[in-house]
Amino acid sequence: MSQTPFMTLERYIIEEERKHPGATGALSRILSDLSIAAKIISREVNKAGLVEILGFTGDTNVHGESVKKLDMYAHDMIFKAMDHGGQLCIMASEEEEDIIHIPHHFTIGKYVLLFDPLDGSSNIDANVNIGTIFSIFKRVSDGEGPGTLEDCLQPGMEQVVAGYVIYGSSTMLVYTTGEGVHGFTLDPSIGEFILSHHNIRIPEKGKIYSINEGNYKYWHPGLKKYIKWLQEEDRKTERPYSTRYIGSMVADVHRTILYGGIFMYPADSRNPKGKLRLMYECNPVSFIVEACGGPSIVNLPDLIIISGPSPCLLKNLNNI
Ligand code: AHG
Ligand code: MN
Ligand code: MN
Repeated sequence: MSQTPFMTLERYIIEEERKHPGATGALSRILSDLSIAAKIISREVNKAGLVEILGFTGDTNVHGESVKKLDMYAHDMIFKAMDHGGQLCIMASEEEEDIIHIPHHFTIGKYVLLFDPLDGSSNIDANVNIGTIFSIFKRVSDGEGPGTLEDCLQPGMEQVVAGYVIYGSSTMLVYTTGEGVHGFTLDPSIGEFILSHHNIRIPEKGKIYSINEGNYKYWHPGLKKYIKWLQEEDRKTERPYSTRYIGSMVADVHRTILYGGIFMYPADSRNPKGKLRLMYECNPVSFIVEACGGPSIVNLPDLIIISGPSPCLLKNLNNI
């Protein structure tokens, strides 16, 4: 029998809140609302194979209505689930250029929500894992009115909660408040996220490296040397490593957290600014990775996530 207690996300959040007597319950309500959006997005993601029949094409359907792409659908869904909870003062999404204000008729709260509604969206039509990433901050602007850009542009270390939802062979919500990372798997038959991965710790050592090797030609010479080093044979350091690259950061990071190894999305000569977005992607996953014991280096524009404290890997990275 599993040692993991039977616990819904809802119950887990409430019990965590009880441990902190001063807690207002605001973060719990935000997480709870996010989990509802996640369930609805999960349902739609599971219908993605019916794209030609049900829509999500970005075109106009036979009734003359415009049919949303799944990433815009996810964006709208999260906004709708989060705008009226009374806990947020501002939001920002990868799918919208400007900051997103809370409609004026709803209560303004003290928290800020940043999100990538669908990460890895190029994988949707191939039935490959995709995800939703979120990052929560406390507002820093004065007053009780609408939040500002300043609230959204805070350093990653100021995050109070970060998490992701991965839509894969099952749908899983993973989050942290900075102490412990917990994963909840959606049981679609009852519509509840159930605690399935309590206190996830990244393995001390992994044997997988994850990087888009198609960009090899454009990499820094030090990085080329490092990847070649991972491919060499050496029993003592358990090389060569295997390579896995899904191309959905959420999925690649999720695997790295569970199996260990190294994930990288570096800048290169073709994309000197890198690809991953600091606020919607790098900050939240780094907060999670660090909370489960792995170094995550956001040395803009690079993102590097490494299994456990691995002096060998770190030494090599430092030599790049
Ligand atoms: P998004 O779908 O939110 O635009 O993000 C895609 C990102 C990230 O998920 C992934 O790691 C990366 O793009 C893949 O990029 P490459 O195809 O260049 O490897
Ligand atoms: Mn993304
Ligand atoms: Mn996206």
